[in-house]
Amino acid sequence: MNAAGAESVMRSDAELEAHFDAVVGAEQRIEPRDWMPDAYRATLVRQIAQHAHSEIIGMQPEGNWLTRAPSLRRKAILLAKAQDEAGHGLYLYAAAETLGVDRAELTEKLVSGRQKYSSIFNYPTLTFADVGVIGWLVDGAAICNQVPLCRCSYGPYARAMVRVCKEESFHQRQGYELLMTLMRGTEGQRRMVQDAVDRWWWPSLMMFGPPDGDSPNTAQSMAWRIKRHTNDELRQRFVDMTVPQAEHLGVTLPDPALSWNEERGGWDFGEPDWSELKQVIKGQGPCNAERVERRRAAHEDGAWVREAALAYAAKQQKQRGTEK
Ligand SMILES: [Fe+2]
Ligand SMILES: [Fe+2]
Repeated sequence: MNAAGAESVMRSDAELEAHFDAVVGAEQRIEPRDWMPDAYRATLVRQIAQHAHSEIIGMQPEGNWLTRAPSLRRKAILLAKAQDEAGHGLYLYAAAETLGVDRAELTEKLVSGRQKYSSIFNYPTLTFADVGVIGWLVDGAAICNQVPLCRCSYGPYARAMVRVCKEESFHQRQGYELLMTLMRGTEGQRRMVQDAVDRWWWPSLMMFGPPDGDSPNTAQSMAWRIKRHTNDELRQRFVDMTVPQAEHLGVTLPDPALSWNEERGGWDFGEPDWSELKQVIKGQGPCNAERVERRRAAHEDGAWVREAALAYAAKQQKQRGTEK
């Protein structure tokens, strides 16, 4: 091929970028083989990895109650939920791998503290009512965050979210049903639910991240159509969805500032303690060290499974080679 020919198939960076912008602007998907800006790729790797880590670490707080579930039915439900979360994690690691990273590398970053996971999983689960409240509030907040991600501009992430969201909605309903059952029980069980709501309400609001004024990456993520709404918009949506559910359940949300704003047609609410969120993100939450240590130990304990799978795959390949 002569020099002019090479030039005709090689597109300049400006052309590639214009094509990328046009695809994103037209609400089409960017796929793994498409050109994308380095910063877009890096943002997605960070976000998808954090999301995957959250699903995996998120099994721990509820896993704490698997052996102590009050009935076989509750145990089966909780096991199914924990397995769903493991599946979400694996889906998301696979989506991250389409961007050219390796899940072993991501796990290494998680256990060495170089990559984060959701702040919410650094709080302890003190009673079985926490299982219900996690389903209701934590999975509920996750749904608010994840439904708009089904329209994310990056194809593999958007498609993974479709299935994940269906399962999250089951998680939320099982939590709410558990709480309804407890609320129909004894006075002590009702107190247990209220206590769990008091402890999880504010950390759930913090799941949407810092306030918009303190979230410098939001504008770029929205321009790339990775993110569709700001943190504060999603937080508001969550509060508006949850307040009537709390009323129906018969619990009080621990916020004296909560009041209906007729003018804007939404609930006003108090300011979460952002210094607490900063501390938890920095690794100073009540369970950070325990969660990461448990994950590291589980990863090391599972080394033999990964080695066995690789040995089996190599053996199969060799056998196929000799059959030819
Ligand atoms: Fe999940
Ligand atoms: Fe979930």
